[in-house]
Amino acid sequence: MTTVPNDITDVIEADRRNVWHHLIQHKPFESIDPRVMVEGKGMRVWDATGKEHLDAVSGGVWTVNVGYGRERIANAVRDQLLQMPYFAGSAGSIPGARFAEKLTERMPGMSRVYYCNSGSEANEKAFKMVRQIAHKKYGGKKHKILFRERDYHGTTITCLSAGGQPERNAQYGPYTPGFVEVPHCLEYRAQVETGNYGEWAANQIEEVILREGPDTVGGLCLEPVTAGGGVIVPPAGYWERVQEICAKYDILLHIDEVVCGVGRTGTWFGYQHFGIKPDFVTMAKGVASGYAAIACMVTTEEVFEMFKDDASDPMNYFRDISTFGGCTAGPAAALENLAIIEEEDLLANTTAMGARMVENLNALMEKHRVIGDVRGMGLFCGAELVADRATKEPVDEKKVQAVVGDCMAQGVVIGATNRSLPGLNNTLCFSPALISTADDIDEITTAVDKALTKVFS
Ligand SMILES: Cc1ncc(COP(=O)(O)O)c(C=O)c1O
Repeated sequence: MTTVPNDITDVIEADRRNVWHHLIQHKPFESIDPRVMVEGKGMRVWDATGKEHLDAVSGGVWTVNVGYGRERIANAVRDQLLQMPYFAGSAGSIPGARFAEKLTERMPGMSRVYYCNSGSEANEKAFKMVRQIAHKKYGGKKHKILFRERDYHGTTITCLSAGGQPERNAQYGPYTPGFVEVPHCLEYRAQVETGNYGEWAANQIEEVILREGPDTVGGLCLEPVTAGGGVIVPPAGYWERVQEICAKYDILLHIDEVVCGVGRTGTWFGYQHFGIKPDFVTMAKGVASGYAAIACMVTTEEVFEMFKDDASDPMNYFRDISTFGGCTAGPAAALENLAIIEEEDLLANTTAMGARMVENLNALMEKHRVIGDVRGMGLFCGAELVADRATKEPVDEKKVQAVVGDCMAQGVVIGATNRSLPGLNNTLCFSPALISTADDIDEITTAVDKALTKVFS
């Protein structure tokens, strides 16, 4: 049942005339209609033509974790907006304090939440803290921040400077200085043959630190599972070694949980699978499932203390603000989002349905030689498409897009890596909401099966 209006031609025309959509070439919209999404309920979305789709990408970019149409989130936001919509973040708010408490209870070792609006902004906050700590403790010298090839940390010029995806970065330079790349850790495309790839890949980080000079490196920023760079689950042994390296060289570990955060991999946070102790954790998309804009930069009491240790110095605190970090709709929505995940046991469901998704994708790999590798953790899965399994030559990305297009025509929205790495935009992405049922998962992989048959036969 939907309430999609019969005729919203005027909306389509207004969109065509006045809206600049994200991450898309607009020339085709001179002859075809731009897609306008109108309604969502549970796992389903309806577009302006009234066509129903099963959403296997949680709003396109791993966001609507608890599904569409959650009245209790809408009601909480409405009540909060009427009571107190906004005050600058130098003051506190009731939902801000309550959510910070509930969130940090689920993040042992972390205790301070800094509110802002987007994943990019949260990452910028952590970068600024690393830089300020370098100035406070090391005369500015330990200011370099390491990031990993294939990872993405956001869209601002500084986040692109920390971005390991050349097609996202190209043409937006010059970049912010002081960001240094370390090699990726995707075993399927291993740079060497070795019996212990996880340890080898982590050791490459140490090589970079030694090359740059350990006294110049202050931070290391990593995705727990790389998202847009190809759904990369780090190999066994990787994270243990990363933690050792950070401790050895006194480097602050920043985990970017913008995609993995708040349930996507079957734990509250992706890093919690690996037993690591970060200094900074950033999160955005799933924090309020897109019902309100909210991002958080969470850190330890140890980091927090460094910014208040000398109150007589007027420069000795974090001189940063995010205007809309003071909006109360975000934490009000996030509180309900968290309660839903807990009450509906969605972490366990994510683990179970993620296992089913990987099992189904592995079965498709038996049938379709074009699937070279299946990867995933929880409801965060990918299937890399190759023209030749022996050489691992990627398929033409037009064919990857044809698979996505065919699924869309069947009424199932899936994703694919997009303008990320030259020649390697060849991984299909699946990230349905954490409420997925076995039937939903099977419907998604059945559509993929049909699309692969059509595009590659
Ligand atoms: C891992 C990761 N970090 C950061 C970001 C940036 O988040 P936002 O688009 O909210 O700025 C993204 C966005 O896709 C992301 O995937």
